[in-house]
Amino acid sequence: DKSLPAPVKIKLDDTDSSKITLGDGKDVKGTRVRVFGRVHRERKQSKVLFITLRDGYGYMQVVLTGKLAETYDALTLTRETSMEIFGELRQVPEGAHAPNNRELHADFYKIPQIWKAAGGDDAITNRVSQNTDNQAQLLDLRHLTLRGETASKVLIVRDAVEFAFNQVYKEMRLRKVSPPALVQTQVEGGSTLFEFNYYNEKAYLTQSSQLYLETCLPAMGDVYCIEKSFRAEKSLTRRHLAEYTHVEAELDYINFEDLLNHLEEVMCRVLEVTMSDPTIKQHIMDLNPNFQTPSRPFMRMKYSDAITWLNEHNIPNEEGKPHEFGDDIAEAAERRMTDEINRPIFLTHFPAHIKAFYMLKDPNDPRVTESVDCLMPNVGEIVGGSMRMDDNEELMAAFAREGIDPSTYYWYTDQRKYGSSPHGGYGLGLERYLAWLCNQHTVRDCCLYPRYFGRCKP
Ligand code: 4AD
Repeated sequence: DKSLPAPVKIKLDDTDSSKITLGDGKDVKGTRVRVFGRVHRERKQSKVLFITLRDGYGYMQVVLTGKLAETYDALTLTRETSMEIFGELRQVPEGAHAPNNRELHADFYKIPQIWKAAGGDDAITNRVSQNTDNQAQLLDLRHLTLRGETASKVLIVRDAVEFAFNQVYKEMRLRKVSPPALVQTQVEGGSTLFEFNYYNEKAYLTQSSQLYLETCLPAMGDVYCIEKSFRAEKSLTRRHLAEYTHVEAELDYINFEDLLNHLEEVMCRVLEVTMSDPTIKQHIMDLNPNFQTPSRPFMRMKYSDAITWLNEHNIPNEEGKPHEFGDDIAEAAERRMTDEINRPIFLTHFPAHIKAFYMLKDPNDPRVTESVDCLMPNVGEIVGGSMRMDDNEELMAAFAREGIDPSTYYWYTDQRKYGSSPHGGYGLGLERYLAWLCNQHTVRDCCLYPRYFGRCKP
């Protein structure tokens, strides 16, 4: 069959057959194949053993009949056991359901002793099901819960999204760099710095690669990175991790409008590329059946208008009072507004004092900055970005206001000394983007092994 990959000829003890992964040649029927996988589910119906096999590329229903269903291995088969199976792919009978509408009628299989998964009290189903109402214990078992359908789909979508960012940035001629994780400067405020002893010098885990990206502009043009960022967040929320994957980009010789347009383009194009793979699209639709590609242009709303909107909708600030210009819009209020509006929002022009020191002031209103947060329904902020202060004196004044010693930032301020330029950029939290795309309640379910306040294992 043409849709099958070229057969891999391996000399077997009994026969030759082509090895396929479980998602291969979805329409293939009537061919004898050889597959490997783990027992995802099994059920016995009269004398027939039905196994759903899983290999990370798909699921396949396998049917064992007659003597094959009565061997010692078949009678003691446990979930997660690895198997090698030969058989013919057939259409499922009328009215029956199976992945890709087909099943493998086995004529031979092998289960080496060490491939068998634990059974009894130690069976995976017992270990996981005893703990389903305890989030902490489930996370202790993350190495096993990863095998579940939802967790594995989210991580497979994550791989596709990360790949799409790389593709889209290449299309847009941004160059990838890899800034250091061990640093001696802060970007987003001292309160969330992870400090450590670096050969007897004070150092931190990076909060953002932004400042380093800025230094690349004169050398390489527009740049991006996909690296870990670290925040010593001291609260437990749905959207805060201590270690997260940060997609950051920096663009040279642009204005604020260019930045917003670029951001919209990247976010939509990444979706397009991600969805162009039918398997990934299906995973997204399984996880988030109501997902709709956002329409462009995204809604644009100034911070000051958001304050008015919140008051008109009786959404109070953290003290229970009406919002005032200058208030930091708290997570709960932000989410209520985003959910109510129910489409992506570019929230812009935040007051200078509630934002980071490096943000450029709006020339038309120096109270506010040329800054943007992109808010998504169900998650809230997934992107933070801004134009950067390009005047050295202004930057020095900002350092002084924040009480930051500028001498350790000499490599950053030198950018203003040796050919400054209007530039800006942003950071997107990959786990938050995925929480939105895959409709996950928390960012913890959008990374492999989440790290947050109180958790640094497994
Ligand atoms: O708004 P933030 O703090 O902006 C920066 O770090 C800029 N220096 C980025 C830049 O301009 N290059 O963070 C950017 C994004 C947030 O919108 C959010 O999606 C994510 O990073 N983020 C977190 N994600 C998970 N856990 C946390 N503790 C996060 N903190 C920020």
